[in-house]
Amino acid sequence: MNTEELQGFLAQAISWATEVGKIHLKYFRNKNLIIETKSSEHDLLTIADKESEEYIISQIRKTYPNHQVLAEESGSNEQISDFCWVIDPVDGTTNFAQGIPVFAVSIALRYKGESVVGVVFAPFINEMFYAAKGLGAFLDGKPIQISQKSDLNDSLLCTGFPYDHGTNPDNNTDNVARILPHCRDIRRLGAASYDMCCVGAGFFDGFWEINLKDWDVAAAMLVIEEAGGQVIRFREKPNYCVIAGNADIVSQMRQYVQ
Ligand code: IPD
Ligand code: CA
Ligand code: CA
Repeated sequence: MNTEELQGFLAQAISWATEVGKIHLKYFRNKNLIIETKSSEHDLLTIADKESEEYIISQIRKTYPNHQVLAEESGSNEQISDFCWVIDPVDGTTNFAQGIPVFAVSIALRYKGESVVGVVFAPFINEMFYAAKGLGAFLDGKPIQISQKSDLNDSLLCTGFPYDHGTNPDNNTDNVARILPHCRDIRRLGAASYDMCCVGAGFFDGFWEINLKDWDVAAAMLVIEEAGGQVIRFREKPNYCVIAGNADIVSQMRQYVQ
């Protein structure tokens, strides 16, 4: 794929994310947003998740009818293609449903299984993170770079917890207990794609989480890598158990995160 094609896909994803941002803001802080719960009583589906996903998929159908789609709410389509759009229509649904402004849409394009374009747009905060393979990572048009810290003790970290935290003891609290004494502090913002982009921009020095899905990470992993960072997977596939940051911080985090 040449640079021009890559830039074309990137521009397309940015324009879809911009439109989805309008859908989010149309509903944000409205009443009666929740349609149902999903994998657990803590896992919500709102009207904005549905409408945002329907919008993006309809645009892909029109623009790239032969491309594959993997979307959180509707799964995978039947197309067999080297190109696959990986979509989280609202990342941070719990925040969204509660009126907390940390939520984003995440759109990635994978080519032969590898992310080549990634866009994460947080419309209330009004921040657009994006990256394309080999072309760098950007926040609102300006290049971003991973944190240059080398000591975990000075590092501000971010993490999250899986939705089955009430029933599954493997819920990441053990990792929090182990690593907290060795870092500056830990945040739980609640939208993995946005959290990870904040690592790309150097706002967080490190991030880890267990059991994330393709749509949570497909765009933001590319943002981090194109910003000079590293994302390692520390458990078996298919879920993403990841540690992200610069190489020094990732290796120090690895001592505590399992
Ligand atoms: C969730 C958020 C959250 C993370 C969860 C994800 P959703 O995605 O990214 O920060 O901790 O693991 O499932 O459900 O809001 O799209
Ligand atoms: Ca998500
Ligand atoms: Ca989601």
